[in-house]
Amino acid sequence: MPRIGIFDSGVGGLTVQRAILDALPGLDTVYLGDTARVPYGTKSPEVVTQYSIRNGRVLVAHGVEMLVVACNTASAVALPAMREAFDVPVLGVVEPGARAAARATRTGKVGILGTQSTVASGAYQRALAALIPGVEVTARACPLFVPLAEEGWTDPGDEVVRLVARRYLAPVRAAGVDVVVLGCTHYPLLAAAIAAELPGVTLVDSAAAIAAEVRERFPGAASGGPASHAFLVTDTPDRFLGVAPRFLGRPVESARHVDV
Ligand code: DGL
Repeated sequence: MPRIGIFDSGVGGLTVQRAILDALPGLDTVYLGDTARVPYGTKSPEVVTQYSIRNGRVLVAHGVEMLVVACNTASAVALPAMREAFDVPVLGVVEPGARAAARATRTGKVGILGTQSTVASGAYQRALAALIPGVEVTARACPLFVPLAEEGWTDPGDEVVRLVARRYLAPVRAAGVDVVVLGCTHYPLLAAAIAAELPGVTLVDSAAAIAAEVRERFPGAASGGPASHAFLVTDTPDRFLGVAPRFLGRPVESARHVDV
């Protein structure tokens, strides 16, 4: 059975793994959450690149055939260096997300939501500009969405969630976008709250977009299973194990500590 490596700064990349497992139940995976160093979204491109390469080395040592960079921040800043560092194919979430947005937009006005580093990198903006001539991008960093999602505060009826979403999304709504990319691992959990503030706007989930591209590479894994899934973390596993099932949508029974 093919085996791929997936990494993220922490638990959030499990939303990407979830989309991949939904599409490819026969695929073996090794997930690495760099829980000792999270968040990446406020760190410099140099540091995120250094961490990403270390994570990739651990996964490649586990014999994976492909590296999926689930973290949007790492995908935005570290992909060229990772592609140079490793012989296996390296897939990031930015390009699939941008392609899905390009397919979905009718007006050429696209919103990007992500971490501060993802937005500042301009990676989504460049990818969209290459795909949609004359695209108008409105990019917004929404850092408080990350702790909200980890805390399980995602209900659109929750007053705190509504207020935070409204504050971040008002300028995006005012820009008149017709498509918004959820450019951060945690945001799919807040999709209902985001949709409530952006009526009539199509939400593009980078996780689903990359899952479709992984499926193209391993069509045989679309059926079959049960597959094996290993979880590695760089901090002690307790907190990861508490939050992981909500992000993965499946039980996560054990995780092993690794030093990277
Ligand atoms: N995984 C990160 C991302 O998708 C969000 C959390 C963090 O800042 O590390 O950009």
